[in-house]
Amino acid sequence: MVWRATDDSYVKLSAELLYQYHKLEKGLCLTDSTRFFGKDAARAVMHVVTRWRQAGHPRTDRVYVGAIESLRSYRGKLRPLHLPDADGDSVLLDIDVILVDEPLRPELATPVPFRPSADTSDAFERLCQERRSVRAYSPTPVDQGLLERAIGIAQWSPSVCNRQAWRVHIYRDRDQIARLLHLQNGNGGFGHQLSTLLVIAMDSTAFFDATERNQQFIDAGLFSMSLILSLQSLGLASCCLNWSVIPAHDVRAHREGGIPENQRIIMYMAVGHAADGALVPRSPRRELQNVVTTH
Ligand SMILES: Cc1cc2nc3c(=O)[nH]c(=O)nc-3n(C[C@H](O)[C@H](O)[C@H](O)COP(=O)(O)O)c2cc1C
Repeated sequence: MVWRATDDSYVKLSAELLYQYHKLEKGLCLTDSTRFFGKDAARAVMHVVTRWRQAGHPRTDRVYVGAIESLRSYRGKLRPLHLPDADGDSVLLDIDVILVDEPLRPELATPVPFRPSADTSDAFERLCQERRSVRAYSPTPVDQGLLERAIGIAQWSPSVCNRQAWRVHIYRDRDQIARLLHLQNGNGGFGHQLSTLLVIAMDSTAFFDATERNQQFIDAGLFSMSLILSLQSLGLASCCLNWSVIPAHDVRAHREGGIPENQRIIMYMAVGHAADGALVPRSPRRELQNVVTTH
C-alpha cells in the first residue's frame, strides 16, 4: 500500500507518520530481522518528518517523538552490524542528519520489554461480566476527570498501524443532548435521564484508500469496547447507542454536535451513574459450541 496524500495537516501527517514508523518499531521487535530491514520505511519516515518540520507541527508531539525514537533505535540496532550494504549505510547517514538536533530521550526508547502482570484473568472476567448496558441513570453528574481517565485508558486499544483515529465528543448540555438523542432510535425511556452523552466518531482523514474501508469500524469497535469496560472499572455505567440512521439524521447530528464532516459518527454512548436499584436484562450469551469452530 502506498500513501499518496499530499495534505500536510496535522491529522494527515500524523496518521502517515504512524503508518510509516510503525513498520520500523514492529520490525525492531522481530527475532529474525534481516540486515537493513525497513530501509524504505526509514526513508519514508524521514520524508514525513521533514514535511512535519516544514509544516511547523510541534516537535514535542507524541507521534512525532515516536517516529524520532524509532529512527534512533533502528540506527542503533543496525549500525553496529557493520555489514556491507552501501544503500543501507546511506540510510543510516541520513538518519544521523535527521536526529542531529533532536534531544536524547532514553526513557522513550523503543522497543520495550513485554512484561504483562501475572494472572489478571479473574479480574478481567469479572469486569466483562459485570459490565452491562444500563438504562436507568441517577442525576449525579459525571466527573470530567473520571471521564477523561476512562478515555485515556481506552486509548490503549489497538488500531491499524496504531493510528488511533477515534474521536470522542462529550456533551453536557441537556438541551443539546436531547436534540442529539432525538435523532437516535434506541434511547427511549432513559435518554431523558442522561446528563452526559458521548459521540464516538472516526476521523476518516487518518485513512488513505478504499482498501481500508472497514478499518474505521473495526478500530472504533475495539476502542468503544475498551471504553465501556474502562468506564465500568471506574464505577461509571454506560450504554452503546446504535447509529443506524438515515443520512439526513447523520447530517443533522454533525451540525447539532459540532462534529466535523471528515469524522464519521460510529455510535452514541450513554454514560452516567447507574440509578439505585437499576435493573439490567439477563441477556444470556450463546454456548461456546455455537460460536467456536476448531479446524
Ligand atoms: C453498537 C451497539 C449499539 C447499541 N445500540 C443500542 C441502542 O440503541 N439502545 C439500547 O438500549 N441498547 C443498545 N445497545 C446495547 C445492546 O442491546 C447490548 O449491548 C446487548 O443487548 C448485550 O447486553 P449487555 O450490554 O447488557 O451485556 C447497543 C450495543 C452496541 C454494541
